[in-house]
Amino acid sequence: MPRIAVLPGDGIGPEVCREAVKVLEAAAAKFGLQLEFEQATIGGAAIDQYGVAMREEDFARCQKCDAILLGAVGGPKWDDPEASVRPEQALFKLRYGFKLFANLRPVKVNPALIAASPIREDVLKGTDLVVVRELTGGLYFGKPSKVFKAPNGVTKAVDTMAYSQPEIERIAVAAFDLARGRRKKVTSVDKANVLSTSRLWRQTVTQVAKRYPDVEWSNMLVDNCSMQLIRDPRQFDVIVTENMFGDILTDEASQLTGSMGLLPSASLGTGKFGLYEPIHGSAPDIAGKGIANPLATILSTAMMLRLSFGETKAAGAIEGAVQRVLDAGHRTADLGGKTSTAEMGNLVVKELAA
Ligand code: IPM
Ligand code: MG
Repeated sequence: MPRIAVLPGDGIGPEVCREAVKVLEAAAAKFGLQLEFEQATIGGAAIDQYGVAMREEDFARCQKCDAILLGAVGGPKWDDPEASVRPEQALFKLRYGFKLFANLRPVKVNPALIAASPIREDVLKGTDLVVVRELTGGLYFGKPSKVFKAPNGVTKAVDTMAYSQPEIERIAVAAFDLARGRRKKVTSVDKANVLSTSRLWRQTVTQVAKRYPDVEWSNMLVDNCSMQLIRDPRQFDVIVTENMFGDILTDEASQLTGSMGLLPSASLGTGKFGLYEPIHGSAPDIAGKGIANPLATILSTAMMLRLSFGETKAAGAIEGAVQRVLDAGHRTADLGGKTSTAEMGNLVVKELAA
């Protein structure tokens, strides 16, 4: 029986997770799946309660599960730059601890929502891409990373961007494998004109590409990619890139769909275990108001059912239900509507049951 760890976190995290769990339960009922849920406190909520972003015992509980559903972490309350415990540490502990090096962030423009995007319809129409973001390397994990006093008395800071060849190879393989099941096109994004890590990245991806003669591929510099994403997003099928470039490009890419509130994600390692979360953050400005868009989290549960549990039908049913709710004109505030978070969840549940 699949066990799912639910980690709501902070801000709108608990609100959107509640709706996603409702939808998962409805999908389970409809398709006869036995799902077990287990809750744990992480992020700022855990700092308040336990003094750390994630307790070892809660990590251990996640290890007994088959997948994790995560809301979001962070907020102004825990933003002190001097603090040694930070909500984001929970995310990094999960990503690194479970070796979830491949973060898949699909960006598919929904015809019903084209008007919500700041980009013109003729540019957007038909956009369907996935960013494969490397998630356990680069600037997020490189050491040293610290603020320190230099011998001359000047305060300095350093972060380290480091990649090993095997780390690049495995994410490249993930991207090319994914492309094979799609339109067979990979764009590898780097900054090889400046960074050593990017030059190794490019060299390694070039080697991996030779094993995929059926997949068309090219390199693109990250600054150019950020422009191409809004100039001509349809040119992309699979984008593969390092951790921070992927972080930045996916916020940009979310605007193609009309709202950050629509983008799901899956973080995977070599097995079936996965961490599923919306790409938006904790949105403290709208937390507790019941107006957050739960669709990114709901769509993340569809990714979970498909990628961790092989429940393709149930996954497709959730996506179909979301589509019908949007087609019927229901919109949360981020998309200019008045539908509440809970109403949105209920509407998806109702469509799913129909
Ligand atoms: C994301 C988020 C996180 C990241 C933050 C909350 C640390 O922006 O998942 O994209 O930078 O990875
Ligand atoms: Mg981000």
